[in-house]
Amino acid sequence: MNNEFFSFAKIYENLFNPILKNDNGVDAESLTNFSLKLLSYCSKRRDWPLISNVFESIKEDLCIKDKRLNQEICGIHFINPLGLAAGFDKNGIAANTWQDFGFGFSEVGTITKFSQPGNPKPRLFRLAKEQAALNRMGFNNDGADALLRNLKSQNIYKYQKEKKICTGINFGKSQKTPLEEAKEDYIYSMKLLLPYCNYAVINVSSPNTKDLRKLQDPGLLRELIREIKVISKFTPLFVKIAPDLSFKEIDEICQLINDEKVDGIIATNTSLDRLGLEERVLPESGLKLSDERGGLSGKPLQFKANKILNHIHKLDKDIVLIGVGGIDSPKAAWERICSGASLIQIYTGWIYKGPNLVPDILQGILNQLDLHGITNVRDAVGSGLEWKE
Ligand SMILES: Cc1cc2nc3c(=O)[nH]c(=O)nc-3n(C[C@H](O)[C@H](O)[C@H](O)COP(=O)(O)O)c2cc1C
Repeated sequence: MNNEFFSFAKIYENLFNPILKNDNGVDAESLTNFSLKLLSYCSKRRDWPLISNVFESIKEDLCIKDKRLNQEICGIHFINPLGLAAGFDKNGIAANTWQDFGFGFSEVGTITKFSQPGNPKPRLFRLAKEQAALNRMGFNNDGADALLRNLKSQNIYKYQKEKKICTGINFGKSQKTPLEEAKEDYIYSMKLLLPYCNYAVINVSSPNTKDLRKLQDPGLLRELIREIKVISKFTPLFVKIAPDLSFKEIDEICQLINDEKVDGIIATNTSLDRLGLEERVLPESGLKLSDERGGLSGKPLQFKANKILNHIHKLDKDIVLIGVGGIDSPKAAWERICSGASLIQIYTGWIYKGPNLVPDILQGILNQLDLHGITNVRDAVGSGLEWKE
């Protein structure tokens, strides 16, 4: 298929940009679900000539292949440092397509032991002017068994073995499981799914599941990690933290990450802080953000997420860091890498800026490597190098 006739980025621009310019209009969650279902349909029929041509064309548009972006991290080969963050493909229904959009890896989930509907709708809100989103999804997902079926139906194991894709799975606690039984909940899902991921994430930072963040308490987290470590010996393990922790709390978590030999930290999840948008009114409810429940993501989170990541990097350079939160441009991506992120992830920025953000970021990183005379992205990690115009 010729790119003159098919440009996925152009289609996205024409179809979605008018919608994404407004808070109101097409509901944000319906839009995500529609796109995901379409992708899921295609991912199971990749060998149909028309669908295979469309994927080839998308790849041609969006994938940047360059050895300078390759890294080995925790024994995993990453073709580039940019991943799709957790929460977009919760049930992994399009897990084997993300590499076609130029991503070096994707994180599916958050998955919980039990299938659950999440919080009542509406629960995802666009803040278009601020390039941000507020969500209180509450881990809506089809459960660990369904994720297993979805990954198997896409031959994920084969793709991973051939190093064509890299998939992380993000694990959470079911809403109905009391905090005291959280361990069993995580263990159930992990036992089932660890063979199907390149790395695993213990999510203790979503603000939308009651009491989940209490698991960030060093005592509880240590107990949880010890139990998980028994079954996850061969899978690199990350803990995803909230941006609302104090530096003292973060330091305690870093200490235990070190003690318990966890591979790394994903910083950060969405924020309960309103990050200067306290007075902003949500058109859907007429309420100020300070009175709305949910976690804030996107541009307003950029500064805070970067500050936390850099704090951890300065504290302990051995902790592998995945930086996420408000990355929406090549410059923000470069800054996060130079602050200490070996890998970065995007979600909200990708929705607003569209699929071209992936090649734009990767090309931007390559340009900076040239300008600074660096031969591989790993040498920029934690370097503190400035963005050069
Ligand atoms: C609608 C939505 C759903 C999300 N769901 C999850 C989730 O299930 N698990 C998780 O760890 N993070 C989840 N996140 C958080 C993102 O993975 C990411 O940490 C956060 O949005 C900050 O990145 P961003 O500013 O690029 O969006 C979600 C974010 C959004 C906007």
